[in-house]
Amino acid sequence: MSKQFDFDKPTNRHGTHSLKWDKYNDDIIPLWVADMDFKAAPVIVNALQERIAHGVYGYTRPTQDWAQVVVDYYQREHNWQIKPEWLVWVPGVVASMNIACLALSPEHGTVITPEVIYPHFHGAPNNSHKKSYYQPMSTAQSRLRVDLDRLNEAPTHDAKVMLFCNPQNPGGCVYTADELANIEAFRAANNLIMVSDEIHADLILDQDKQHIPYGRISQQAQDNSIVLGAASKTYNVAGLACSWAIIANDEIRSTFQKAMHGIVSEINPLGYEATIAALEKGGEWRAELLAYLRGNRDYLAQEFASIDGMDMLPLEATFLAWIDVSGLGLDDAPAFFEASGVGMSPGAGFNDKNYMRLNFGCQRAVLEQAMQRIRKALAAR
Ligand SMILES: Cc1ncc(COP(=O)(O)O)c(C=O)c1O
Repeated sequence: MSKQFDFDKPTNRHGTHSLKWDKYNDDIIPLWVADMDFKAAPVIVNALQERIAHGVYGYTRPTQDWAQVVVDYYQREHNWQIKPEWLVWVPGVVASMNIACLALSPEHGTVITPEVIYPHFHGAPNNSHKKSYYQPMSTAQSRLRVDLDRLNEAPTHDAKVMLFCNPQNPGGCVYTADELANIEAFRAANNLIMVSDEIHADLILDQDKQHIPYGRISQQAQDNSIVLGAASKTYNVAGLACSWAIIANDEIRSTFQKAMHGIVSEINPLGYEATIAALEKGGEWRAELLAYLRGNRDYLAQEFASIDGMDMLPLEATFLAWIDVSGLGLDDAPAFFEASGVGMSPGAGFNDKNYMRLNFGCQRAVLEQAMQRIRKALAAR
């Protein structure tokens, strides 16, 4: 297949007030927060340019056509038939997690979350003063597994909400139908509402794996879950702040929407335009992106396999490698890697300081430079 898009082409993000690039000076390659260094698909840029050319950017109401685009996307990509009225547009997935904890967990209720986990899963229950129970995942068979025996020890008597991430961040696991069925059995037995963050659903790297939306597991799962999605990670438009929550259950959806009133602002017109263009027309770009990311992942896996003391967990999805660095015996791993010129996310933020998370959503040449720096710093120890 001939390539249409050049992911090797360097991009310069200086001067764009980029969270990722402005954290460090030029001596450190930023491989931390989860956005990619690639330009968005031309179909998205064109849609944005057309909207910008209009010149008026007032409050924007989502249309029925846009809802249908999301419905069609779930049917086409994930074999899940949803209804347009289940869709709630929210400016961010993290906002939805917070709304769910605020509105659906009882006042002193416990929110249950398997971890290690993306840091905002720690923030969401805290922000609305709910209790949290973090269930450590096991790394059996080099995979972050939800340990069901131990999950059954969770304090469920005052719990109403469970937070879950699939594909998993960090770790990039794509949970199988069996794994999801077991988790759903736990949810059902304890009458919980599952909040399933599926923002990375369209970044599956292993071609024999398939993402299963939580609501597709069963009718019961659909009626008792909130599935969170966005085009933001896959299409690199996170700064445009647009996402959705799929809530089939009328009562849960109404409670969720009431909690948003006056707190959650409108989605901006550009966020909608980018999202709709991505879902409708971004398929070819995404296919090439996945091939490129697969190459980056395989390159890193090969590199880390030859470095004693650094162990990269096999990754099925996402552009976020999870690397056990405990074998290096460093006192302060994040500081060591920053001093070597590579800025990764410290594992402590995900609640495992033995690990570092490396964002490989960047040009291969940048990764090669980062790996040279790591090797040089390790050799000089
Ligand atoms: C699992 C996960 N959820 C949510 C987010 C952020 O979503 P949003 O920017 O829509 O709040 C990220 C970003 O890295 C993520 O990895």
